[in-house]
Amino acid sequence: MSHNTSSKQIGSATLTYDNKSATLPVLSGSIGPAVADIRKIQNELGIFTFDPSYGATASCESSITYIDGDEGILLYRGYPIEQLAEHSTFLEVAYLLLWGNLPNAGELKDFTHNVTMHTMLHEQIRRFWDGFRRDAHPMAMLCSVVGAMSAFYPDSIDIHDPRQREISAFRMIAKIPTITAWAHKYNVGQPFMYPRNDLTYADNFLFMFHAVPPEAYKPNPILSRAMDRIFILHADHEQNASTSTVRLAGSTGANPFACIAAGIASLWGPAHGGANEAVLKMLAEIGHKDHIPEFIKQVKDKNSHVKLMGFGHRVYKNYDPRAKIMQKTCYEVLEELGIKDEPMLDLAMELEKIALEDPYFVERKLYPNVDFYSGIILKAMGFPTTMFTPIFALARTVGWVSQWMEMIEDPQQRIGRPRQVYTGAPSRDYVPVDKR
Ligand code: CMC
Repeated sequence: MSHNTSSKQIGSATLTYDNKSATLPVLSGSIGPAVADIRKIQNELGIFTFDPSYGATASCESSITYIDGDEGILLYRGYPIEQLAEHSTFLEVAYLLLWGNLPNAGELKDFTHNVTMHTMLHEQIRRFWDGFRRDAHPMAMLCSVVGAMSAFYPDSIDIHDPRQREISAFRMIAKIPTITAWAHKYNVGQPFMYPRNDLTYADNFLFMFHAVPPEAYKPNPILSRAMDRIFILHADHEQNASTSTVRLAGSTGANPFACIAAGIASLWGPAHGGANEAVLKMLAEIGHKDHIPEFIKQVKDKNSHVKLMGFGHRVYKNYDPRAKIMQKTCYEVLEELGIKDEPMLDLAMELEKIALEDPYFVERKLYPNVDFYSGIILKAMGFPTTMFTPIFALARTVGWVSQWMEMIEDPQQRIGRPRQVYTGAPSRDYVPVDKR
């Protein structure tokens, strides 16, 4: 049984301005803080609200993912991330995010079959790569190839047809590993490896990424499990920047492939998904434990614009639960690969220790986030730093698709259109160029 319920009114708040009062319904979801419904505020008080960067704004009702930032809790459809990371698989989690419940054995088999049957790309898409520079960042290739998918799959872009929405969801989730692996193959000049449908989702990606035609490929169960877990940890995270981008693009009626391409573009920034790449660059720049105090000094200097990458979060004011699982996975991977001393890990741990004791970080409640350890694992697994954010995008695709589907099915859905506080010139008359 799915647990989707609408929010309920639990009270009201009164806002008074200019001798007029508006009674705002206060709503509650199933868990989490109550919200004031300000939709009628403009009609009733003649004002609207100002919340740049949306720190105090719920943009939608959603039953997919829940975060309690103070307690460090993350739930997918009610299930704690720790339990899913420990016991579940990525495709099971994908089903859960998309359809609301964990699948039974038959449902999982059908779902796996459907995803597996869509792993190949239209052969014409291969030609896209010929146009890119060899050193193109894989995120640039992901944005373009995913954006172009609507040109190759026009039979699944009618957003009002539930069957077409479902097919586009399968296509996105199934093909994104192929696109991501091929972006890497193009960078390194190796032949593209076609997907293998006898492998699991994670193994198929690792195969397309690492394998070469003349060599036999043997999956490593520990690394496959680590890959699968990384995918689970990144699968969704409620209304973050890229998901909100997907929803905003989707609210216009744009096709799903265009919306996911918009999400990939938004994820790329170093404040968001690009942080995993930025963490390793930062560790490489610090270079040695002895340089940490100098680096922390720069971070605290307001004029330096230097941030401790992999630290801090808009919602978590406690340890990001995903970071804890990442750290554990990191040890497992390094042990499996026989890496006894990983200087990057030693450096990261020392940096974390110092930051967690420093009043600057303590007062601001800055803790390690998901990206702090993920780069070290991915590096150990043989991924170049430029691939870290594409792997995040691969995993987040199912979250974006689930949120997009939920939005399209929401009867209250209409175009997303924020307002602004205009601070420019008041109305003035045009002056001909010779009179200026
Ligand atoms: N290093 C140093 N100072 C920081 C950091 C950091 N990583 N993060 C926040 N602060 C400071 C910030 O300067 C501000 O200080 P003050 O109050 O003196 O002006 C205070 O902490 C509050 O931060 P904020 O900028 O209001 O926080 P935000 O919610 O706008 O930003 C963030 C959240 C994630 C963009 C930010 O913490 C950051 O840039 N972190 C580094 C990048 C990173 O690791 N991003 C990955 C986030 S998790 C995965 C994902 O979303 O993709």
